[in-house]
Amino acid sequence: MHSDAAPAVRSRTVTEGPTPSAPTWDPQQYLRHAGHRTRPFVDLLARIPDLPTQAPRIADLGCGPGNVTALLADRWSKARITGYDLSREMLERAAEEHAGPTPGGGSLDFRHADIASWLPEEPYDLIVSNAALQWVPSHPGSFAAWINGLRPGGTFAFQIPGNFQAPSHSLLAALCDTPRWRPRLAGLGARYIHLLEPGEYLARLTELGCAVEVWETTYYQMLTGPDPVLDWVKGTALRPVLTALGEDQEAVSDFLLQYRDLLRGAYPPGPRGTVFPFRRVFAIARKEN
Ligand SMILES: C[S@@+](CC[C@H](N)C(=O)[O-])C[C@H]1O[C@@H](n2cnc3c(N)ncnc32)[C@H](O)[C@@H]1O
Repeated sequence: MHSDAAPAVRSRTVTEGPTPSAPTWDPQQYLRHAGHRTRPFVDLLARIPDLPTQAPRIADLGCGPGNVTALLADRWSKARITGYDLSREMLERAAEEHAGPTPGGGSLDFRHADIASWLPEEPYDLIVSNAALQWVPSHPGSFAAWINGLRPGGTFAFQIPGNFQAPSHSLLAALCDTPRWRPRLAGLGARYIHLLEPGEYLARLTELGCAVEVWETTYYQMLTGPDPVLDWVKGTALRPVLTALGEDQEAVSDFLLQYRDLLRGAYPPGPRGTVFPFRRVFAIARKEN
């Protein structure tokens, strides 16, 4: 799908701003590492079982710029797929690049929604989420409603980062908590305590009557270019910090320099690039008939 595809089914809310507490997103920065960021979704997709209908209804929660949402149409060419996201910037990029009819007779559209309150408004064959539920502390509490909204034989599948103990995040949390930054950034570097352990996800989804598969993988990502870990987190973990510092360019610059120096110590470059290990947790829950 290209930007010259038929007009998107654009949401009434694409033009609205994000909710005040949400960080602003930068699709261009996020997509700079699209190859590494897409790989886990491809691995998740490969394990999702066949869906119960020929023209399935699919939701992608926290779809971002829509490039992984579009991969769903490659596998289910007749599917009616909706990507939901909170970020106006991400939704605009997704609509421009990917919305419209798909070659197999399905469609892709993108709508504004908060995952925290999203509920299936019709029966779904697949509800999927890639690298987004970590931003939604209440997400385990929504599992029952989401699975209830699946057709029998439908699937709920997600991937979330599990690297919040890694230096990239612990150094960010520690820096935000220094006297210089605490008044403006307290808590913004350590937002992930609400994530469950893989075994807890497995137990929750099993209790909801699903056949469940959960696993974890650590990707040893080889990043290139100067300060590549800083470049990576500018697209994700740093969003709340950059949003909080806003237009204060001096503060942004000071913060990035301090954080960059910490990252250089933790992730020294090697002869072929900088290794950035990244643990991710996967879950697939098929609603039994
Ligand atoms: C790391 S990006 C992942 C994007 C995409 N799923 C991918 O795999 O490339 C996280 C996305 O989740 C979205 N997001 C965060 N909190 C959200 C919420 N409460 N409701 C909807 N989307 C949310 C962000 O706007 C962002 O686009």
